[in-house]
Order: sequence, then C-alpha cells, then structure tokens
Amino acid sequence: MLRSLVLSLLAISEQGFSSPLRRRDTATTALTGADIQSRDLVSIAAFAAAAYCVRAGQWNCGDACDKIPDTQLVFTIGDSAATPDVYVAYSQSRNQIIVGHEGTNPSQILSVANDLQFLPTPLLTILNVAGTPAGVSVHSGFQTAWVQTSTLVLNAVKQLQAQVPDARVLVTGHSLGAAISLLDAIFLKQQLPTNTSIEVVGFGRPRVGNKIFANWVDSMFGDKNTFVVSRHDPVPHVPLILQGFQHTSGEVWIKDDTTTLSCDSQENPNCSDSIGPFNAATGVLDHLGPYFGVYMGLSCANPAMVTAPFSTTLSLRPSNIPINRGRGLGLSIPLGAPAGALVGMLAGALLMI
Ligand SMILES: *[C@@H]1O[C@H](CO)[C@@H](O)[C@H](O)[C@H]1NC(C)=O
Ligand SMILES: *[C@@H]1O[C@H](CO)[C@@H](O)[C@H](O)[C@H]1NC(C)=O
Repeated sequence: MLRSLVLSLLAISEQGFSSPLRRRDTATTALTGADIQSRDLVSIAAFAAAAYCVRAGQWNCGDACDKIPDTQLVFTIGDSAATPDVYVAYSQSRNQIIVGHEGTNPSQILSVANDLQFLPTPLLTILNVAGTPAGVSVHSGFQTAWVQTSTLVLNAVKQLQAQVPDARVLVTGHSLGAAISLLDAIFLKQQLPTNTSIEVVGFGRPRVGNKIFANWVDSMFGDKNTFVVSRHDPVPHVPLILQGFQHTSGEVWIKDDTTTLSCDSQENPNCSDSIGPFNAATGVLDHLGPYFGVYMGLSCANPAMVTAPFSTTLSLRPSNIPINRGRGLGLSIPLGAPAGALVGMLAGALLMI
C-alpha cells in the first residue's frame, strides 16, 4: 500500500507536473546500428568503461580496451572513494583527448543521488564565472566529488593541448562518473580556448542540476551533450524532478535489446521517463549495461581490479609511451606522500609547468 502510494507519487513527479499549457516536444527517433556507429557510441562506451580499470597507471580493461586500441594513458588520479578515479588519455587515430571518469556501484549512486542532504546548491565559485546565468544550482554531492580532481584534470588537458592543439576533447563516464563528467565538460568549456571542440557523453547519468542548469548546458553544448540510459536503470530517475532536478536534452534511451531512441528536448515522456523510477528487480542490473555491447564496471581484464583499493593513493603518471606528436608530459611525482599533501603538491607542480 505504502509502496504503491510512493510509486505513484514518484510517477507523478517523473512527469514533472507539466502544465497542459506547456507543450513538450515528445518526438523520438529510432537509432539504427549505423546511426550508433556514426555517433561513435561504441568507442565512447569503451572509454567510459575503461575508467573502472585504470589503477596506478595501468590500462587493463580487456574487451573495452580492444575497442580503443591506440589510446595512450597520460594522467590518472583518484582513490575510488572521496576522489573518484579519472584518467586523461590521447588517441592519435582519433586525434582526441579523452577524459574518463570512473563511477560507483548502483546501490551507492542510488543512495547518494537520493540523499536529501544533497539538495540543489549554488555552483562553486570556480564554475560560477562570467556568463553563467543566475540561479544555476547542482547536486552538492556530485559537485564535491568533481572538485577533488577538476584543476588537476584541467591542467593535464592543457598540457596535452599544448602538444596536440587541434585535438578534439571528449569527456565521458558512467554513473557518478557521468555526473562528474558533465561538470567537468562545463569547466573545460569555460577554461580552454573557445575554438576547442568539447563533447560530453554520460552513461547511466543521474540528474545533475536544476532546470536553469539544464537549459544552460543545452545552450552551451547543443548536440555535443548526450546521456545514454539503459533500459530500466533507476539511476537516471534520481534525484527526482520533485526535488528540483531536471535532465538536460540529449537522452539516448536503450529501450530494449532491439530499440534505441534518440529523444528530443528535456525529460521526453516517450523515453526513459515512461518507466517508473524504481523498477528495481531488473533495473539495478541495467545500470551496468550493456551499452552498445559494453558493460560498465565488469569489463576489466582482471575483474579483481574493480574492487581492489588503489595501490597508490594518488598517482600522476608520465606517459611511458611518448605522445606520438611532440614530447611526452615527462612529469614525475614521488608516491607514498600523504594524500592531502600530495594533492597540493601536484596542483602546485602542474601550475608551474
Ligand atoms: C509520444 O507520446 C505521445 C503520448 O504520450 C504519443 O501521442 C506520441 O505519438 C508519441 N510520439 C512518438 C514520436 O513516439
Ligand atoms: C585553436 O586555435 C589555436 C591557435 O590559433 C590553434 O593552434 C588550434 O589548432 C585551434 N584548435 C582547433 C581545434 O582548431
């Protein structure tokens, strides 16, 4: 009884109390296999999956890495806890700089996204630069996780850009990593030269900010912002619209094994919003995929790496393989220092280079 009451409340909230006066664009387009290829979604899913498999500079993600063979890992940092793992890599064949953010397991992301202590809060000043509209607010837990690595990632990307100035930039991640990726893409857009091509693709992305945030992202990225929802995955349904959150445009919904829809506008009722938020029985597993044949968090060559603690708390990895065009980053940082001190040191070292 209570459960069904809660579920119907949630169903109402999913529809966002949309007024009949405000017509929403409900158009969808079915994507063929060729469309999925031309949107590059298989490789991008592999880049997101690889973020679970980067440990202390090792790039070891089996099937996913086989799909992105010439990728050179340049920078990694994280402890898979308060500081989620992130890597920066370069692909010569794609001439693309890739920033990949690791996610977390479905139960953890659901509890964080539902945690009422994380209401929409104002942007940190680092993101609230000139041109940011008033009233943008975001999930404070996602923002806190993002800011742990934001400056280090920016500086790693800047250093790569100095070597490959015409490279495109892709920011991707799954779950919590998808939320962090969206904040990261905004930050890179603000900080990198305006002619930089930046694309952001999230898999199993929860709602990140309020409606003003969603509109702002849409105006900044247009069709360079995509989030892929797998079947009945509950994570993209939280935090709720009722709590003041709103998805951006750019949903691609893998409805089932044969149908994938590209969805116009925000919160398209013909896409994943048509599913109640807590289809828990199968839904939680759907969070892991498959996303165009790629599973997130399950595809490391050595599955033990998914759960094993980071062997070095933080690492900044000079590329063993020099960037093919230009010189390698050539940074080296002693490991084993206390994490906080090391972060400060890394930030300082990166700023000086
Ligand atoms: C979207 O849903 C509405 C009803 O909710 C339906 O009338 C319409 O045909 C759907 N559009 C598409 C493109 O599926
Ligand atoms: C952006 O401009 C810089 C400087 O003019 C140039 O070196 C770089 O190749 C440009 N980047 C792109 C993606 O076109």
